[in-house]
Amino acid sequence: MKSKICSKKFENKIILNDLNFKIFRGKSIGVMGPSGTGKSMLLKCILGLTEYDGKILYEGKILEKKNRELLYNNSGMLFQGGALFDSLNVWQNISFKRINNKTYSKRDSISIVRKMLKEVELGTEILNNMPSELSGGMQKRVALARAIVNEPRILFFDEPTTGLDPLTTKAINKLILNLINKNNVTSIIISHDPLSIKKICDEVIFLTNGKIEWHGSVKEMSNSRHKMLKDYLNSNR
Ligand SMILES: Nc1ncnc2c1ncn2[C@@H]1O[C@H](COP(=O)(O)OP(=O)(O)O)[C@@H](O)[C@H]1O
Ligand SMILES: [Mg+2]
Repeated sequence: MKSKICSKKFENKIILNDLNFKIFRGKSIGVMGPSGTGKSMLLKCILGLTEYDGKILYEGKILEKKNRELLYNNSGMLFQGGALFDSLNVWQNISFKRINNKTYSKRDSISIVRKMLKEVELGTEILNNMPSELSGGMQKRVALARAIVNEPRILFFDEPTTGLDPLTTKAINKLILNLINKNNVTSIIISHDPLSIKKICDEVIFLTNGKIEWHGSVKEMSNSRHKMLKDYLNSNR
C-alpha cells in the first residue's frame, strides 16, 4: 500500500501535510506522535472515511469512491477506545459487518463468532453479554475479534492498548502479534507505547503537526539522535 497524501484540511487548517510512505505486504508500521497530530486522521483518510488531496494506492490501484471496497473488504479496524456498540451484545458486535452485508444466517454467524472468540482467547459463555458487563481488556478482545471476522489482509489499530493496565497491555500486544504473524497480515498501529511498537512493528513513522518528522526501522528508532523523537520516547516510557 502506498500513501501520497498531499494535504487534509478542515476549513483552512492543515491537518495532514505531505505524507509519503509505502507499506509492504505482511509488514507492520507503527505511527507515533503527540496527541492531535493527525494519527487517527491518517487512518480515516486511508479507509476513505474522509476526503483528502492526494493519492492512496492499494495493490497498485488508486483508491477512489468507486473502488473503496477493494480495501474495505480486505481490512479490519480496531477503533480508538475500542468502540463497541453499547446496545448490541458480543455476538452481534462481532458479526456486525456480516449481518449488515446479509451474507450469513444467524446460525452461521454464531459459529464464526465462536471461532473468533477462541482466536482472541475468550470463552463462548460471553456470547450474549453486553459490552458494559465486560472488563476493559475483554472489551478490547471483543473489538479485536470484530476486526478480524472477515479474515482481513490489512489491520488498522488506533491506540489498541491506551487505558489498559500493564499486564492487559502485554496480553493484547501478544494477541495482536500472533494474529498478524499467523496470517501474514499487513498492519498499521497507532500507539504511544514504544515497547508495544518495538514488539509488533517493523517500521515507525513519527508524526508531528501532521507531517512525517521521522521515519525509520524500529531498530533505528531506538538508536536515533533525533531530538524531538528522543524527547517523545523518553516522555512515554
Ligand atoms: N471533524 C473535525 N473537524 C475539525 N477538526 C478536526 C476534526 N477531527 C479532527 N480534527 C483535528 O485534526 C487534528 C488531528 O486529529 P487526530 O487525527 O484525531 O489526532 P491524533 O489521533 O493524532 O490525536 C486535531 O487538531 C483535531 O482537532
Ligand atoms: Mg487519535
